[in-house]
Amino acid sequence: MKLVVIQGPNLNMLGIREQQIYGPMKLEQIHAQMKEFANQNGMEIEFFQSNLEGEIVDKVQECYGDADGIIINAAAYTHTSIAIRDAISAVNLPTIEVHISNIHRREEFRKENMIAPVCTSSVVGFGPFGYHLAMVGMLQIMNEIKAAHEMQKQQQVAQSAE
Ligand code: DQA
Repeated sequence: MKLVVIQGPNLNMLGIREQQIYGPMKLEQIHAQMKEFANQNGMEIEFFQSNLEGEIVDKVQECYGDADGIIINAAAYTHTSIAIRDAISAVNLPTIEVHISNIHRREEFRKENMIAPVCTSSVVGFGPFGYHLAMVGMLQIMNEIKAAHEMQKQQQVAQSAE
């Protein structure tokens, strides 16, 4: 199983930017922990960060046929980007959006969310630990998909034996 982690604008500044909101952890530290969890659970993982909307759209599109799931923090683009939303919709992969802060408790403009309606689920307000929760959630989703495929296969075998 391959997981792609997509990080939006200014997340490369974690550990420096607004520590009272986002905490002291750097993006590389978050990714190192995610990599460790991926290794422990036999997952392949790729990380991508960009400050550019179009590059994020390109990366989501690249996941089609290449990845089994996406974890995305679209950062400020969450609140504005129909293009990223459409890309997530287009590739139609299990997608979990993460927000380090609780966007519902912040400024009004952060309550607008273009991304959430096309994602499988959202994890908000747990700090960097939210990325870990998203990975646990993704494992669960993958297990459910696998179980559904196996059931389908068994039904086909049973039908062909009738
Ligand atoms: C964020 C929340 C966004 O509103 C903000 O623009 C970010 C980070 C978060 O992880 O809490 O850059 O996505």
